[in-house]
Amino acid sequence: MCGIVGYVGEKLGLPIVIDCLTRLEYRGYDSSGVAYVDNEDLVVKKQLGKLNNLSSNLKNKIIPASCAIGHTRWATHGEPSIQNAHPQQDENKLLALVHNGIIENFNNHKQKLIGKGVKFTSQTDTEVIAQLLGRELQKVLNTGDNYSQNKMHSTMHSTSSLTKKQVLRAIHNVINSLDGAFAFAVVVKGMDDCIFFAKFKSPLILGKGIDENFLSSDATAILPYTNKIYSLMDGEFGYIDKKKIEVFNSSFKPVKVKFESLQIEPEQIMLGDYQHFMHKEIEQGAESVINTLDRLSSELQNLPNGIFLNDFNLHIVACGTALHAGRVGKYIIENQLRIPVNVDYASEFRYKNPILDNKSVCLFISQSGETADTLSSLELAKQKGAVTIAITNVPASRIEKIADYCIHTSAGPEIAVASTKAYLAQLAALYAFAEHIAKLRGIEISFSIKKIKTEVMRFSKFTYRDKLGDIVKDIKEQESVYFVGRGLDYILALESALKLKEISYIHCEAFPLGELKHGSLALINRESVVIAILTQKDLIEKTLNGIHELNSRGAKIILFSPFEELKDNVYKFIKTPLVDDCLSPFVVIKPLQILAYLTSLSKGLDPDKPRNLAKSVTVE
Ligand code: G6P
Repeated sequence: MCGIVGYVGEKLGLPIVIDCLTRLEYRGYDSSGVAYVDNEDLVVKKQLGKLNNLSSNLKNKIIPASCAIGHTRWATHGEPSIQNAHPQQDENKLLALVHNGIIENFNNHKQKLIGKGVKFTSQTDTEVIAQLLGRELQKVLNTGDNYSQNKMHSTMHSTSSLTKKQVLRAIHNVINSLDGAFAFAVVVKGMDDCIFFAKFKSPLILGKGIDENFLSSDATAILPYTNKIYSLMDGEFGYIDKKKIEVFNSSFKPVKVKFESLQIEPEQIMLGDYQHFMHKEIEQGAESVINTLDRLSSELQNLPNGIFLNDFNLHIVACGTALHAGRVGKYIIENQLRIPVNVDYASEFRYKNPILDNKSVCLFISQSGETADTLSSLELAKQKGAVTIAITNVPASRIEKIADYCIHTSAGPEIAVASTKAYLAQLAALYAFAEHIAKLRGIEISFSIKKIKTEVMRFSKFTYRDKLGDIVKDIKEQESVYFVGRGLDYILALESALKLKEISYIHCEAFPLGELKHGSLALINRESVVIAILTQKDLIEKTLNGIHELNSRGAKIILFSPFEELKDNVYKFIKTPLVDDCLSPFVVIKPLQILAYLTSLSKGLDPDKPRNLAKSVTVE
């Protein structure tokens, strides 16, 4: 969580840093801050809440700094407050530092530093890095350079005599003492022409421009300025100035940096005609499925296909929406291929001592490719000898680097915190994976990739907005909304409930319809609103039984189904596209995503940035 960015070049740095931060807000928005070097002065500005608060505060101020760093925070250590916002500084204010990650041994360091008389002003783990680095730099200033050949002048208060090499040495010393994950950027007082950085486990990329260079937590943030990207490896650190980029590995040896051109059009990360990214991304669902299906066949061919011909144990591990995609994958693989599949929340999998060996194949699904629990589970599976396959939407992400094999979804950048088009792309990848194994084993299945593409295209233009306005009125004031379904429809209910709760803050819960009478039916009264999903032909009768049970308790049932003849059984009915049963996940989710979106809007909330959440969950 947290997004960091840095700019050094010939232009005014601050507006560029603020602009880049707008595309990193998905990583957190509890507070934001910037730091820049204005001649000899190191200036830090911070605000609580979303980036808007900071940018409107800085608006109309022309700040001539050409070197600046910025941060948008999702609080881990310490509540959202100005003190805990980044940049953090050392006690002598020699530097300002922004950080993404968690320093696990921060308290050890902190206690030792306090013992030496260092005064802390925040509750963050980040301040420890700033203080440690500040002390290293102060040591150089006080005693002269221990490392460089150049003779240093001893001075307590000015850093103008520090060299880049001295700062790099200091950073190297500090990062060697840190446990945990970090990507940080530092500006140093008196050095108005460069930004230092280091990376371990948290993502950090460098961007190369003409007479300007960038660093950022992710490439989309700086894409309007450059598409020449280098993704730093763990342990690497260095600096950027406007002409030069120097990177060193953990042994302080220079690294030859090779920049790659990123193939993302800037429009992909802009709102365009939409008011919110979530709406834009819902509308891109069909495109995301088709692009994924068109691009992944060579990756499937590269899998260790021999293993699929014999008995193997299949596990799917993920978090949040990616886990719900995994549940659909389990349903389809078990139903069509008769191969058993275990699905686990990554946060549970890693602590349950999973039964894995070299006959196990583990699929790890992650849009961002950097979810901490998913990555830890992946590392565990590798240790236990399983074959590991990542399904990710972010090329060169950490998950891709760790897994044995990788299947890319091609949803394009997903910016809204609530995942929509990436979910559809994950479904596409899982269906393609199932079809691939079916072909290898000579099993006949009831869907084809071609059919998926035709069906998603056929219904992609349905907008649902006009039909759902009425339903929004029914649910927006509810304290709880229940979602029910059977089989695949229950899995869709889970994802629909997650979507609505995360952006409307209404308590939403999904139940397998047949389970209601074993407890949850006690929650139902005449005020209850229940959203039922019914897309599976052979479950019509059974689902209707459950609907009648709910009706008898007075619940208002809103049914999402292609079977219009059922509409008289319920309070309200939304017709969804009629497709083959096993393809319904591709077409039924859109009206339910739109429902969540409209409900959030009707409550005056920001659907793109729900409270307390972040898109990339890089902490456990
Ligand atoms: C967060 C996001 C969700 C996402 C989940 C897993 O909770 O808000 O939208 O589904 O993380 O993220 P991943 O990047 O691993 O798919």
